[in-house]
Amino acid sequence: MWDALWLNGSLATMAGDGLGAIADGAVAVSDGKIVWAGARSDLGGAPNTLARTVNDLGGAWLTPGLIDCHTHLVHAGDRAREFALRMAGASYEEIARAGGGILSTVAATRAADVDELARLAAPRLASLMAEGVTTVEIKSGYGLTTASEAAMLRAAAQAAAAAGLRLHRSFLGAHTIPPEYAQRPDEYVARICYEMLPLVAEEGLADSVDAFVERIAFTPAQVARVFEAATRLGLPVRLHADQITDQGGAALAAQFKALSADHLEHTSPAGVAAMAAAGTVAVMLPGAYYCLRDTRMPPIAAFREHGVPMAVATDCNPGTSPLFSLLTAMNMASVLFRMTATEVLRGVTCVAARVLGLGEVCGRIAPGLAADFAIWRVGDLAELPYRIGFNPLVGTVVAGHPRARARPHASIAGTA
Ligand code: NIG
Ligand code: FE
Repeated sequence: MWDALWLNGSLATMAGDGLGAIADGAVAVSDGKIVWAGARSDLGGAPNTLARTVNDLGGAWLTPGLIDCHTHLVHAGDRAREFALRMAGASYEEIARAGGGILSTVAATRAADVDELARLAAPRLASLMAEGVTTVEIKSGYGLTTASEAAMLRAAAQAAAAAGLRLHRSFLGAHTIPPEYAQRPDEYVARICYEMLPLVAEEGLADSVDAFVERIAFTPAQVARVFEAATRLGLPVRLHADQITDQGGAALAAQFKALSADHLEHTSPAGVAAMAAAGTVAVMLPGAYYCLRDTRMPPIAAFREHGVPMAVATDCNPGTSPLFSLLTAMNMASVLFRMTATEVLRGVTCVAARVLGLGEVCGRIAPGLAADFAIWRVGDLAELPYRIGFNPLVGTVVAGHPRARARPHASIAGTA
């Protein structure tokens, strides 16, 4: 007998290339995993003889729990002043070169301990969860010392465990050059390779290694050193690539068989082809594009043409994307990048799972995968990217455990 059964609603299984929709579906769960999914008519028995608990979806849609595969949501401080400067005309690059940007968050984050960082992350996670997120990726990258990067990654684990979320942690020591190493970036890269990465690997602090290749961050050669070290330690890589300028980031990511390359506004056709050949996923971050008032879109048509899967994420961070809503990111991906509803929905489920190396763990409704669901009171799933500021989530299920829709805390940002 199964532990639980959900029925009387529609399923989006994400099987095949589309939504894998089943109009009158049923999904069975035992020990936190999906054991059966299909048409209700194929159940082969009365529901209450098949499962100990029978949950009525009441006509709602059941999708895989949403996955936010790119966030920087562990950090202290905020950058509201910088936002005002940007709205007055300063560019992200100008602010960064003047010592603001990522470095201002580094100063605030270094001053906070693990408990404080976890406490600050809690309402941000609650905001994502209130919209159906059951798996989140969280990066380090605002510590830039061995101790502070480790503290960020520990805080991520603490906050996600307290929230009951599935977590993937990315070590982003190569986010920017810390002030102490301003004149000797290669020494900082050596520190990443010979001190930080070995600790991260030994203590299991991260599931992947990320980096930022850009004029205001690291050169392709420096990133290659970090990726070589990560690869030697058995850690998969991903890359913030071609966001502000074309640094050949997409091809660099592909060269290291990266799980993903993210941003990609300035990626060349050759970069797209390299990603396709390597199986590297393109992560679209329309929140950063929107907040930076970018006008150059990532090459969506070329990704489609080459069969490069596209994920969508919030990039939740205090600088370029103070966005705590994956539904809003989905709307932006549609409106700003013209992604289809199906692309967007796959981009926050099965494709996002692949970015995190969790393709066989979550992100689809199929036997053997985790029973992570989001349940939506909508007539059509295209309503999810369509509306702005309206949340039709009924509730989520994480590893078979149902949760009613949670409300975010009153304050989701800042230090207080
Ligand atoms: O994904 N591009 C670099 N990293 C972040 C921004 C981080 C920040 O400004 O604090 C991003 O946009
Ligand atoms: Fe980012």
